Amino acid sequence: MSNSQFPVIAEAFSRTAEKYDSFAQDHPHLTRLRNKVYAHVERVLPRGSHILELNAGTGTDAVALAQRGYSVHATDIAEGMLGRLPEKIEKFSLQNQITFQTCSFMDLSGISGGPYEAVFSDLGGLNCIPDLSPVIEQLPRVLKPGGLVTWVLMPPVCLWEMAEIFRGHFRLAFRRLSQTGTRSHLEGLYFDVHYFWPRQVLSWFGDDYSLVALEGLSVITPTAESKNFAKQFPGLYGALAWLDDRLSTRRPWRAWGDFYILSLRHQPGSR
Ligand SMILES: C[S@@+](CC[C@H](N)C(=O)[O-])C[C@H]1O[C@@H](n2cnc3c(N)ncnc32)[C@H](O)[C@@H]1O
Repeated sequence: MSNSQFPVIAEAFSRTAEKYDSFAQDHPHLTRLRNKVYAHVERVLPRGSHILELNAGTGTDAVALAQRGYSVHATDIAEGMLGRLPEKIEKFSLQNQITFQTCSFMDLSGISGGPYEAVFSDLGGLNCIPDLSPVIEQLPRVLKPGGLVTWVLMPPVCLWEMAEIFRGHFRLAFRRLSQTGTRSHLEGLYFDVHYFWPRQVLSWFGDDYSLVALEGLSVITPTAESKNFAKQFPGLYGALAWLDDRLSTRRPWRAWGDFYILSLRHQPGSR
């Protein structure tokens, strides 16, 4: 399996790795989003479970999940992103809980250390491909029967982005609705990003997987890109976050947002 985008993606993210970590510093909104993902994982996956993390980036989640009692094998296609992880492992003395490997989620045949109790992916790394089936088809190789999949994906409807029509930014407001993907720009390089409805993802998973949980992530609060809103308008942000927490598991809100968190259980032959 190959895709000419992958070397570009690997290079773009490798170039941005240091900025990626600095951007996350003093970013209370992103911290809130990540904490909601960890709370979700803790609800659906027993502590001590061994997790395979796809598109792990610089390892922020690997560290956070290890600190919550999980073991994590962190993988990513961008060496520059993953290259920031060893220092974090050392800093937090997590040598016994985190391993890592450079690899694409399009080729999980060489993954070491499996099979795993869960396959985790955060913040839309999987939105870099137009169809998730090639990844899903490989899951039985790396996931134990009865294992869990928790993926954080970007949907076509993000209300905060759509509100950009009021500022005249029509392309930004509706970019996620494009059927062919949206051109994304990072460090002078271009690649396509695709947005998936949960029902499309569920149909790719098929009958061997059952839905465990679905919740919108940042349904009415800003996108993860917005670093200043929460700091400039703490009262308004607090009110939006309060409401966001209450809406995120309800229809139709749970399928909207900057992201959604989808958890499924692998139960081959159960239906
Ligand atoms: C937005 S970052 C998210 C990183 C991390 N999950 C986080 O929460 O910070 C997207 C990541 O997906 C990775 N990625 C994109 N395509 C990939 C592929 N085919 N295989 C593995 N990783 C990939 C990129 O290298 C990048 O690190």
